[in-house]
Amino acid sequence: MVHPGSIVILDFGGQYAHLIANRVRRLGAYSEIRVAETPAEELKTAAGIILSGGPQSVYDPNSPQADRKIFDLNIPILGLCYGHQWIASVLGGRVAPGKTKEYGSTPLEVMKPGHLFKGLPKKFTVWMSHGDEVVELPLGFDQSAASFGCKYAAFADEERKIFGAQFHLEVTHTEHGMEILEKFVMLCEPTPWSVESFEERIGNQIKKEVGQKKVFMLVSGGVDSTVAFTLLNKVLGAERVVGLLVDTGLMRKNEVRMIQEAFKELGITNLHVEDASEEFFRNLKDIYEPEQKRKIIGQTFLDVQRRVSEKMGLAGGQWPVASSNAGKSHKPQATSHVPSDQWLLGQGTIYPDTIETGGTKHADHIKTHHNRVDAVQKMIDAGLVIEPLKELYKDEVRHLAEELGLPHALVWRHPFPGPGLGVRILCAQKADEAHHADAPVHTPHAVLPVRSVGVQGDGRTYRHALALFSDRPCHITDEHLRLATTIPNTNPALNRVLLCTSRPDVPVFTFTPGYLTRERADLLREADAIVHDEMTKAGLYEKIWQFPVVLLPFGTRSGGPTSASATAGGQSIVLRPIVSTDAMTANAMPVPEKVLQVMTDRLCQLDGIDLVFMDLTNKPPATIEWE
Ligand code: XMP
Repeated sequence: MVHPGSIVILDFGGQYAHLIANRVRRLGAYSEIRVAETPAEELKTAAGIILSGGPQSVYDPNSPQADRKIFDLNIPILGLCYGHQWIASVLGGRVAPGKTKEYGSTPLEVMKPGHLFKGLPKKFTVWMSHGDEVVELPLGFDQSAASFGCKYAAFADEERKIFGAQFHLEVTHTEHGMEILEKFVMLCEPTPWSVESFEERIGNQIKKEVGQKKVFMLVSGGVDSTVAFTLLNKVLGAERVVGLLVDTGLMRKNEVRMIQEAFKELGITNLHVEDASEEFFRNLKDIYEPEQKRKIIGQTFLDVQRRVSEKMGLAGGQWPVASSNAGKSHKPQATSHVPSDQWLLGQGTIYPDTIETGGTKHADHIKTHHNRVDAVQKMIDAGLVIEPLKELYKDEVRHLAEELGLPHALVWRHPFPGPGLGVRILCAQKADEAHHADAPVHTPHAVLPVRSVGVQGDGRTYRHALALFSDRPCHITDEHLRLATTIPNTNPALNRVLLCTSRPDVPVFTFTPGYLTRERADLLREADAIVHDEMTKAGLYEKIWQFPVVLLPFGTRSGGPTSASATAGGQSIVLRPIVSTDAMTANAMPVPEKVLQVMTDRLCQLDGIDLVFMDLTNKPPATIEWE
């Protein structure tokens, strides 16, 4: 049974359900996500239901189906995109492939305002992403709005309070989207939800889940695990919580010291710091494939955690863990027995971490998060893991952090991926030349000899980046930004567009083979610290969501004879500042010319860096990180 008075989002896949849930909460209503097939019986206590979008066609025989009895519950229902089409198809209307496929901003015209469009302008812009469309309405429904390519862009049965919208009103590109959602939410009369009550609510949940057990918590250095650890300490008391911070060698400059000091200020002393960097670099030797790197980092975490927990006399050393040669194996061998001890493993997982792993039933696999590698998943399935923040979004975690009294600089530090700099150091044995990648642009340009991850549609792509060169290298123009959108849309071999900020002309690239080494991590750490410093000085650091700094294995002159040689030159830096509200979608942030110039000059002075690029691509089509 769902929480009484909640607004339930039935998840039809894609990445929309969490975005909607987050928006509903920001409107002050409690929201929960459930799989699309949840029986209506379990939804009886809900105040309203929102049916999410999803990547499939409703007439596909394997498409996800909700329980039709939800229409008998007598509560307001809103279908979005796939949800909109599903309502039409099961209530007797008809859905067909659209004559025009609409992707992106589209003008909408309101025909009959009804409840959801009351008081809004007659015409405004919405965000569409669909191939199919509703072509016939079910009995009892009226057309509410139309777009150029879609006659029934919105419909309603005002009496039964059932609504549908083909467009994504949950994304910021849709004008008045939040107002429409708010009108629906208010109609549901839901249980109020306020960030002020987080500490108490999550505290109660922790007490319930942990019972009489104790928690062993891995603290990564990021705000999420720091908040989770602080909260566990507060709720359970220091004697029932032990923290372990594994220094992976892949952390930001001075990160470990900063965390230790923050906890000291709060009187938290039960954090053990283990320097395992040697082990991480050893396991990552000769590893070049991004997903394998990620898995190895996750596995090594678990190995270290087991070793340290044994050493500390915790849990009788009975954690299900990865095989000892985790470094080379894709398949972790979790021990089959469940620990009899009274310990749980704590993690700082938040909502987006679970969705991007395909954590909800219909979401496509996009990438593996280190806190969802096989061995951890097995522990989760066995009920051995507590993730107090797994329902929260970053903005909510930050609220909680302030409530808990964590220092400002730590709370507002940009999110940092679990595998740390490991996903920001591209590794390759040889140049990955693009054979069919180019773009019809008039500015000087070159395709880079590496590939990176992108997200196109609901799936993951692994493609080349195109670098543009200009006479005024640090000056980002509207034309550059336009090209960053159009090039990946029109060239299937490319998913990113960069601007070279360190020189005006196209050089001859020289490839430097490299895997993950301490030298490369140190070099990137310095580069990252320079960027942090310049962004802070310019007052821009807290204005943006994240600023990954990425190291690429090529430059303009040949590197040293071994991959470990970072000082011989031959590497490049990519600057990836983005603005976002939840990391699901993101826009590249054009750094002002002066700031970019100073940053570039300082980066070029680092021994080992030949070139600097600025990534101008939005997400989608590119992901925030490069791997
Ligand atoms: P992408 O690159 O998928 O990133 O656009 C979305 C957000 O997730 C973070 N990220 C990760 N976090 N483990 C994590 O804990 C990971 O493997 C991982 N990969 C990406 C990324 O920094 C961004 O905030």
